[in-house]
Amino acid sequence: MNTCLEISNLKAEIEGKEILKGVDLNVRGGEIHVVMGPNGTGKSTLASALMGHPKYEVTGGTVTMNGEDLLAMDVDERGRAGLFLAMQYPSEISGVTNSDFLRSALNAQRGEGQEISLIKFIRIMEDSMKALEMNPEFLHRYLNEGFSGGEKKRNEILQMMMLKPRIAVLDEIDSGLDIDALRIVAEGVNLLRSDERGF
Ligand SMILES: Nc1ncnc2c1ncn2[C@@H]1O[C@H](COP(=O)(O)OP(=O)(O)OP(=O)(O)O)[C@@H](O)[C@H]1O
Ligand SMILES: [Mg+2]
Repeated sequence: MNTCLEISNLKAEIEGKEILKGVDLNVRGGEIHVVMGPNGTGKSTLASALMGHPKYEVTGGTVTMNGEDLLAMDVDERGRAGLFLAMQYPSEISGVTNSDFLRSALNAQRGEGQEISLIKFIRIMEDSMKALEMNPEFLHRYLNEGFSGGEKKRNEILQMMMLKPRIAVLDEIDSGLDIDALRIVAEGVNLLRSDERGF
């Protein structure tokens, strides 16, 4: 089936304050949409509401992904359905290495009994890191801990490359990147472009 995210008249609020006031947006496989707007207009709110952040309350409208009601799904179900969010401010998680995190995420996506073999995992990860020109030492560091702004963004793209989502929401993926990182991140996105994937 061709990938399709349909957002219709989406309304969402945080702490009782309405931020999204009826957003309409359709994203099909093969398409890249760019949402632009001044600070504080609700771009990250849209991303969080789509992914199911518990702080954001959806008060109206519908969102479907490949015909299924996205808003009825838990966050993990949204992830497994193929939705991915590269966060504007990625969280640091001390004690969890980048590679453990990636492997857990990949296995959660694949489901019980379908776990990826260690050899295959390492191969995919090394290929992805090479494409993003990331130093292998990042595998063994705790998730985003002490990463520079640009390194965090690159790490979000690494996750996207490993998880191969159907719909990727990239929140300010360009901010904090220098010229070289910008090129590498753009190449990462282009590498993943296909008729089955929307951005
Ligand atoms: N906990 C909160 N309580 C009240 N208002 C909040 C809360 N969290 C976010 N907001 C408000 O929601 C609005 C939308 O914020 P959002 O982060 O979605 O904007 P944005 O378009 O992504 O901005 P930027 O370009 O700066 O990233 C802002 O006015 C923000 O202050
Ligand atoms: Mg934002």
